[in-house]
Parts: sequence; structure tokens; C-alpha cells
Amino acid sequence: MQTDTLIIGAGAAGLMCAAHAPGHVLIVDHAKKPGEKIRISGGGRCNFTNMYCEAHAFLSQNPHFAKSALARYTQWDFVELVDSYGIKWHEKTLGQLFCDVSAKDIVAMLLDLCAKNDAEVRLETSVKAIEQNADGYSATLVTGSTQTRLSFKNLVIATGGKSIPKMGATGFAYDVAHQFSIPVTDIRPALVPFTFPENRFTPLAGVALPSRVTAGAGQFDEAMLFTHRGLSGPAVLQASSYWVEGDVITLNIDPANTLMQALRDKRQTSGRKNLTTELATLLPGRLVEFLTDELALSGNLADQSDARLGQICEALQNWQLSPNGTEGYRTAEVTLGGVDTDALSSKTMECKDVPGLYFIGEAVDVTGWLGGYNFQWAWASGMACARSL
Ligand code: FDA
Repeated sequence: MQTDTLIIGAGAAGLMCAAHAPGHVLIVDHAKKPGEKIRISGGGRCNFTNMYCEAHAFLSQNPHFAKSALARYTQWDFVELVDSYGIKWHEKTLGQLFCDVSAKDIVAMLLDLCAKNDAEVRLETSVKAIEQNADGYSATLVTGSTQTRLSFKNLVIATGGKSIPKMGATGFAYDVAHQFSIPVTDIRPALVPFTFPENRFTPLAGVALPSRVTAGAGQFDEAMLFTHRGLSGPAVLQASSYWVEGDVITLNIDPANTLMQALRDKRQTSGRKNLTTELATLLPGRLVEFLTDELALSGNLADQSDARLGQICEALQNWQLSPNGTEGYRTAEVTLGGVDTDALSSKTMECKDVPGLYFIGEAVDVTGWLGGYNFQWAWASGMACARSL
């Protein structure tokens, strides 16, 4: 049978595209199973979209690029699809929608849609020697020891970014872009924990608290977590997407701005009590212990002037930290940057100068916040491409 479209990468974007593309579609992946990142996402429950999905939640050199695809396939379209399969879901927090039971239900849904669309899914298959010719493209597919040369009209690259190489992530999309002289922006790990010299925060590992974390133009009010190697948790992961090496990040561990009043009140009622003991009723004890030296905390509450309490609170609201790096692609949820959007049609994801070549999903320079945005981009860009084929 003549193949109309070859999709490389059976992840979120590729499966969505294969499920809706017309003609004979072949989708290949070098992994043993399709949609592995979907399966492990959201702690096995897949945060499959976000109720508040809008273009401002995406980073890209061209912040307008994602608008068209996101508007033409919205979070509510995906929710309708999920509902039509009877998959139960709930909002966890901040508009983040998760499966009630298992992320595997999303993978099964996409595979069922592919089957209904007669799209052929071929796993443990890699692709080499891609060539463009007068009728479209040809490439060699390698499955085990079998090699087949295949011709097809459209080539869709849906191989994602470099995050989590252990799960089969590769820079394949960037290599294909390079082959066809399509520019790729600088890429780096994002939604990734920060590391610090000499494992500075090891004594605090496991301590979690509400925070406001700022890095560059990004500011997020969510929970944060101290780890053996540094900082993690949603607010920190979010901020990491805005961080460039050498930047200082600002931690505010009193984002509700209630600490000063609480300490004053305690000074009134329990002035003879120790400052650190009382602070430990308002903040995690291990954190107070850690800060005792850093902020030279000593004496009774009654000994602390308003100015001194203000100084302590200011330090906790404006804690300047210099990460020495991130945990890198090994644990990053996404890759920031990718195929330059200037080279693509925002309506179809087709390369402007290379007819029939498409890039979708994480491979493109569109990176969402934490919270279901990246899957929504995968669904929307996959759909934009499918509709145009
Ligand atoms: P994806 O990475 O899904 O798929 C790419 C596919 O291409 C893979 O199947 C891979 O095997 C294949 N491939 C790669 N190179 C190849 C090659 N050379 N030849 C053949 N095949 C190749 N997002 C979100 O919105 N909500 C969430 O809950 C989470 N949770 C989450 C948890 C974890 C641990 C990670 C790592 C990531 C998330 N994400 C997320 C991000 C989300 O998983 C990601 O943005 C999407 O999966 C991207 O979809 P793509 O289809 O573009 O790539």
C-alpha cells in the first residue's frame, strides 16, 4: 500500500496526528511501547491538559506562534475526547486535569483512535537516510534486522526533545531540521530541579513549603521542595524554564506576607519565648534550624525590635540564590527551545521552505509551563498538522 504520511515518534503529538490524519499513515517509534511519557506522566495519572491553557503559558522566541493551533484545538476539545472514551478525570490544582485512574487510559484511547483511522503503528523501528524527491520523501526503516526503503508524500517529525534519554529521547528532530537547513533555537533542559555547590541544601532534603520563586521574567507561586542536590517542587521547576546559567533566583518563603504580623503577635503574647522556637511554629523546624546560623537568629522574641523582625522577614522573602546548574536532561520534564517557529506555518506546522515536512510537539520551540500545558501543545500541534495533510 502506498504510504501518504510517515510520522516519526509515537508519543503524544505523533499519536494524536496519526489518529486524525487522512490517507494511509504509518507511525514509527524506536521504543518498545508507544506513548511512554504519557504513561509515566503526572505520577501515572497524566496531567493531560489545563483548564486555563492560553498562549501566555508557553515560552517561545515567537510568543504568538502557538496561538493558532491552541485556538483551533483547545483543552475543551481534548476533554470532550477524553469524555467520549468514558475516562474519568479531576482537577488537582490550578486547572490541572488528571485521569482518575491511570495515564494508560490516555495511551489506550490514542491507540484506539489510530486503529479506527487505520493508521499503522510500527514499534522498535528507527529511520535513516531520509531523502526528498520529486514526489515527496523516501527513507529507510530499520526494524530488527529488516530494512525497508519507503516512499511517502509527507514526513512528520514528532520525536520530541532530549529530556530523559533513558526513555528513548533523542535529538533526532534537530538532526532532521539540520539536514533540511531548518534553524533550531538554543535548546536546554527545562522544568528541571536546580543544583547548588557542595549540596548546600542536603540538611533540608524533603522539606516542602509554599513559595514564590522568581527567575528572569518568570515568577511562580506554588510549592517548593528542598532536595539532597538543591531545589525542586512545582514553583522551582516552573522558574527553571526562565533561568539561564549564571542567573540568581529569588526565593520568597513567605509569599502570603503573614510572617511579620505573626511574629509581632507572638512577641506580644509570648515575648519570653525563644525566637527560633516560635519561628518553628510558623515555618518547618529543620528550615529554622538551617537559618539560625545564616540569619544569626538568637534571643527571645521580646529582644527583637520591629526593625530586626522586618530584617528577618525581608531575608526570607528575598532569599537570593545562585544555582550552579540544573539536573539536566536526565530529569528535565521538557526541552526548552527547538525547531525555530519562524521556519514553520503556525496553522499547519509545515516547514515554509520544505513542502511536506512537518514538526510537531516538543520538537518545536514551544515550551509550556508545568501543569498539562505541554500535552495540550502536543495535542494541538498534532491536530493542526493532521488537519492540513
Ligand atoms: P514525546 O517525547 O512524547 O514522544 C516522542 C517519541 O519519539 C517517543 O515515543 C520516542 O521514543 C520517539 N523517538 C525519539 N527519538 C526517536 C528516533 N530517533 N527514532 C524513532 N523514534 C524516536 N506534560 C504535561 O503536559 N503533563 C504532565 O503531566 C507531564 N508529565 C511529565 C512527566 C515526565 C517525567 C516527563 C519527562 C514529561 C512530562 N510532561 C508532561 C511533558 C510531556 O511528556 C511532553 O511535553 C510530551 O510528551 C511531548 O510530546 P511529544 O509527542 O512531542 O514527544
